[in-house]
Amino acid sequence: MGLGVPTLPFTFVAHLLAVAAIVMIHPVLMLIGLIIMGGEAIITYKALPMKKEIKKLIHLILHGIALILGIVGICAAFKNHNESGIANMYSLHAWLGIGVISLYGIQWIFGFVMFFYPGGSESPRSQSIPWHVLFGLIVYVLALGTASLGFLEKLTFLESSAGVAKYGSEELLVNFTAIVTREYCSLAPLVLERQCL
Ligand code: HEM
Ligand code: HEM
Repeated sequence: MGLGVPTLPFTFVAHLLAVAAIVMIHPVLMLIGLIIMGGEAIITYKALPMKKEIKKLIHLILHGIALILGIVGICAAFKNHNESGIANMYSLHAWLGIGVISLYGIQWIFGFVMFFYPGGSESPRSQSIPWHVLFGLIVYVLALGTASLGFLEKLTFLESSAGVAKYGSEELLVNFTAIVTREYCSLAPLVLERQCL
């Protein structure tokens, strides 16, 4: 039984919504993934009152979710570029972004193999912990730097092509989101440093 409703306007609306979702989904997935999930994973050992083995599992799973969301977020950015006929990988943000997600993946695989399964023998395992911690914090700081460039780029696009006003509410929103992101990121290393927090 047909309803006799013209479908063409609905397909246009559906496609517009899909494009909007893909354009917006990249920053959202990157922030929820690498920044929020990554930060929570980093403070697991210090913040949770549980057995070491359980904390290790939570650390591993949260970093795993962060990595998956990061990969999906980057795929969404590529999909948006390809469907809109925009060139890929032209900006510093894009270059750093690929670097960050690759390092994050390497760090996860190294952590998994060394500390979880099959697990290294006692001596290399304990010797590699300080390197794992240092490298993990460096990757996290690089993710923050990349996200900051992403905010800057988004705002520049909005100002130059969408007519967003300087000192307008959209600009304030993007800048304040970037500042909140930065403050959040600086808390994770602080918690590692000062366990009392
Ligand atoms: C750590 C987090 C992030 C990573 C690893 C990352 C990574 C990437 C990558 C690899 C691209 C290139 C896609 C392509 O060339 O087709 C890209 C594009 C883009 N990202 Fe991000 N991103 C992150 C966070 C953000 C945030 C927070 C924003 C802010 C709104 C943002 C805005 C953009 C924009 C506007 C583009 C398209 C322009 C361009 O290619 O440079 N990104 N991102
Ligand atoms: C990209 C992924 C990862 C990042 C960025 C990362 C980062 C970190 C950081 C910053 C610490 C220091 C935590 C603290 O001192 O409280 C740490 C500790 C640790 N991580 Fe990871 N990690 C990742 C993946 C993994 C994986 C997959 C495992 C496998 C189980 C793992 C196992 C450990 C262990 C055993 C410690 C030492 C805890 C201790 O004895 O103090 N990590 N990690």
